[in-house]
Amino acid sequence: MGLSSKDRREEVIQAWYMDDSDEDQRLPHHRDPEEFVSLDQLEKLGVLSWCLDADNYETDEELKKIREARGYSYMDFCEVCPEKLPNYEVKIKSFFEEHLHTDEEIRYCVAGSGYFDVRDQDDRWIRVWVKKGALIVLPAGSYHRFTLDSNNYIKAMRLFVGNPVWTPFNRPHDHLPARKEYLEAFMKKDASNQAVDAAA
Ligand code: LAC
Ligand code: NI
Repeated sequence: MGLSSKDRREEVIQAWYMDDSDEDQRLPHHRDPEEFVSLDQLEKLGVLSWCLDADNYETDEELKKIREARGYSYMDFCEVCPEKLPNYEVKIKSFFEEHLHTDEEIRYCVAGSGYFDVRDQDDRWIRVWVKKGALIVLPAGSYHRFTLDSNNYIKAMRLFVGNPVWTPFNRPHDHLPARKEYLEAFMKKDASNQAVDAAA
């Protein structure tokens, strides 16, 4: 990823720590003062992102390259609004239950916007706002949830390696191998710092 594509990402993806209020899940839930989270910090949690040309996804070479490199053979679209999503109210509720999957969750926002909430190393919620052009990958085994924002609409391309499995495992599902592998890969406290502390 070159510098310019990183800069572009910030126009379509923003992340921040959430407050603790129980108010409407579709509100931003910023802390006071606001505490933003960088895309580099997200990457340390295994959350990957790109900014792509959502008006031309059918011919986009960059998308094609990402799909080839990561093996994303499957593709469909999911539109979240009462008219297009069967069982809308139930689905909206289940999206916002904290859960994990045994595979990556890959979503490319081609219209509208929404919030993917992910946990940091200390189990704090980070709200990731994706807008048109944002492709994000949530790693297998990472706890997360989704909600629409107050614009109430998203159209997302869903990608998958092979036959899709959308099964959510609501928290806690810590015994799953995918969860253990996620913890091992991304949630280790910095072992080198601990060694330095111990020696001091
Ligand atoms: C999903 C999102 C909503 O599992 O997390 O489809
Ligand atoms: Ni999910």
